[in-house]
Amino acid sequence: MGWTSCIIWFLCLSVCECWPLPDPPMHGEVHSPQYPGPYPPSLQKQWDLHVPEGHQIRLTFSHLDIEASADCYYDSLSVLYGEKLLGKFCGSDNSADGHHPGYLPVFSPGNTLTLIFQTDANNPERHQNVGFSAQYQAIDIDECSAAEPEDGSGPLCSQICLNTLGSYLCACHHGYELRSDQRSCVLSCRGGLFDEPEGHLSSPGYPSPPPHDVSCQYVIAVESGFTVSLNFTDNFHIESVGTEEGPRCFYHWLEVVIPGEKTQKLCGNKSPGLIHTNSNVVRLNYQTDDAGLSSGWSLDYSTRRVECSFPGDVAEGRVTPRLTKYFYRDYIYVRCDQGYKLMTEGQEIDSFSTMCQSDGQWHLQLPECHLIDCGEPELLLNGGVTFLSGDQNQYRSTIQYHCNEPFYHLLGGANVTFTCEADRIWRANIDIVSPTCIPVCGKPTRRNSFTQRIMGGSHALDDTIPWQVLLNVAGGRAGGIVIADRWIMTAAHVLEKNGQKVTSDSVKITMGLTEVSGQPDSAIIPSSLHVHPEYQNPHQVDFNNDIALIKLQDPITFRSSVMPVCLPPDGATYVTGLLGTVSGFGTTGTADQRMVTNMLNFLNLPIVAQKTCSDSLTLLKQTRSDIPNLTDNMFCAGLPDGGKDSCQGDSGGPFTLTENGRFWVAGIVSWGADCGIKGRYGVYTKVTNYVNWINKTMQEN
Ligand code: ARG
Repeated sequence: MGWTSCIIWFLCLSVCECWPLPDPPMHGEVHSPQYPGPYPPSLQKQWDLHVPEGHQIRLTFSHLDIEASADCYYDSLSVLYGEKLLGKFCGSDNSADGHHPGYLPVFSPGNTLTLIFQTDANNPERHQNVGFSAQYQAIDIDECSAAEPEDGSGPLCSQICLNTLGSYLCACHHGYELRSDQRSCVLSCRGGLFDEPEGHLSSPGYPSPPPHDVSCQYVIAVESGFTVSLNFTDNFHIESVGTEEGPRCFYHWLEVVIPGEKTQKLCGNKSPGLIHTNSNVVRLNYQTDDAGLSSGWSLDYSTRRVECSFPGDVAEGRVTPRLTKYFYRDYIYVRCDQGYKLMTEGQEIDSFSTMCQSDGQWHLQLPECHLIDCGEPELLLNGGVTFLSGDQNQYRSTIQYHCNEPFYHLLGGANVTFTCEADRIWRANIDIVSPTCIPVCGKPTRRNSFTQRIMGGSHALDDTIPWQVLLNVAGGRAGGIVIADRWIMTAAHVLEKNGQKVTSDSVKITMGLTEVSGQPDSAIIPSSLHVHPEYQNPHQVDFNNDIALIKLQDPITFRSSVMPVCLPPDGATYVTGLLGTVSGFGTTGTADQRMVTNMLNFLNLPIVAQKTCSDSLTLLKQTRSDIPNLTDNMFCAGLPDGGKDSCQGDSGGPFTLTENGRFWVAGIVSWGADCGIKGRYGVYTKVTNYVNWINKTMQEN
């Protein structure tokens, strides 16, 4: 399509909405007037032929018969392209005169052609010339093969010319691009984006000098955390202009643009060498104007990871790994020396690591190592703690516990020390986990002198039988024995009334007294009662397994007046004749004159041989039916002559023996046929038979 009609068409559309001009025809026909009849005389007729732009016209005569004359002087058909005469025709096919075109077509160089037919006054009748008939046709011009214009403006296309119907296009070889004049090509330098970790760039056409008027932009953009270094290798030459202040990059330059920094313009003939940009994005602008000469430049770029500053040291700690330089994505770890803990912003942390970030900063500040401490040592019940060395419970401090002597002993002995270890635990120098004060058993702070009471015994002095317990069970008095800080032992029959177990809250416990007046305020109520499971005594004739335990809500703090008695030592035996001590708040006096007492009395009685005791009971059974059996869970104590015995109200109380200066509980006051009768004995529960049950019950409850 030609340009003009296109533009007109566009104008019309946008301005007046008129119809576009029709395209000129691609072909047509012309002939002389009255053809094929003879042409009239005295003619002057002109045809202006038009075909679409970008085409030329080919004119072919199908017939030409015009009066022949020299130089076609009389009649003629002139064919013109503008002013230029392409041919002036007359004559006929085979006439010798004139100038006949024959069958060769006439070409116009452009898209117009003018035909002028002129005739003189006469057309000799004999000849009857008919004139001409011709066809014309538009033919595409091959602009590409046209000769270079003579005005020196160079070829139509500087590199590649493509003929198109009615026009042509210019194109460029690879690596070049078409300039805005749509004709000439320049070396392409729109290198675009370089995002590989390394690469090579050079001026267009390097090592040949670049063409004039280049404006090239290169962007090197790599992952953040990396920095670009430019290394100008090889020749470097960019025109510079000498001024009074030295050379300046006036017309040609290579600009290095680093974000956040002053742009540098490079020129001259000295290579800038290596430039560390410290940036992951670098723009290069290469500019030349239409004159001067620069030979160009070439560079290799490389990248390296952003460097983080040296992290420093941590007192009392170690930073690993130890490197001379740290780069993006490097990790460091901090560990504290033994006995120190990691602290950051006042908080303790388990572990520490930090990474060198893409901005060259460590993502966390280094922590500190503080001396570890084990915290306050645990409080010791019935004891205390002393600091031997170190302070603030810090690593390696040593402490020593002590127990409130003589009522408690430290587990493991008085020389146990605890040290604050690196794992922040106070550890003992022997194999114990935590300090414990063990109650001392069977060692009263005072001993009794002897004046006999109970039934024929004596008043006990204060603190001499500190394990003695006074029980009040549903209004009745009984005895009990302190055996541990939460446990009191008594007789099973004490905790039964009329064959029924009593409830906990009907049991009142008083300890630490040698004299009672009414019901003392200090009485406490047990948390649970544990009667031996095999004690079955509905008719008061079977006292087998007459043992029970009472558990206290709160532990007793032992003191001179309240201390536990020891349980039977391993392998303890009941040797006949061995003196034991029985005590209680039970009745005193002789059989005819019993007296209720408010004083704690005690009495030393020998153990009686089992045979002796059972014989005495067998004898008694001959006259009485209410005599219980003597079992192996019982033993007897008393004197053959009687007069000294435990009695009503003493039940559940202790019969103790001593071994190595310690009192241990051998028996529990259980039963007897009356009290203090000659030939009869008091019967006691044999505690050695129950050590396992006692320990088990205490553990399980
Ligand atoms: N069963 C009596 C009580 O409940 C104790 C009897 C002790 N008798 C003796 N002769 N030892 O107190």
